[in-house]
Amino acid sequence: MRETIPIGADHAGFALKERLVAELRRLGFEPLDLGVHNADAADYPDYAHDVAARVERGEAARAVLLCGTGLGMSYAANRHAGVRAALTWNADIARLARQHNDANVLVLPARFISEEEGVEILRTWLTTPFEGGRHERRVLKIDQERRQQ
Ligand code: RB5
Repeated sequence: MRETIPIGADHAGFALKERLVAELRRLGFEPLDLGVHNADAADYPDYAHDVAARVERGEAARAVLLCGTGLGMSYAANRHAGVRAALTWNADIARLARQHNDANVLVLPARFISEEEGVEILRTWLTTPFEGGRHERRVLKIDQERRQQ
């Protein structure tokens, strides 16, 4: 069965999202396009929360978000339990976000990368496994610290 990958963007990420939806399909995934569906101004938290909540609820194992800088989307997505949203601007960061941080939401700064860079980052993030080991201990501590507060 094809893996469903929720994907969302605001107006600044719209064009690159369209490209990544097509790329996900080409790679054999089932993109769940949660908008925006045009370039009209939109509020990034609406889309970040919709996408991240699906990962939080376990409806999807991973998801993709885009806005101008990637910052607003990552702030909002990371408020959701179990979500590790990584702002990635090149393939090396995407690889490390998977290997060391087990990032389950990919966030792209659409105004600062080309479409080709976006596709390369997406492919790298999709295919790089988590290394586990010492990184697993550290990733687990992210939520342990939260529970102690
Ligand atoms: C929209 O202009 C812009 O603020 C938004 O896409 C994003 O960069 C916010 O973090």
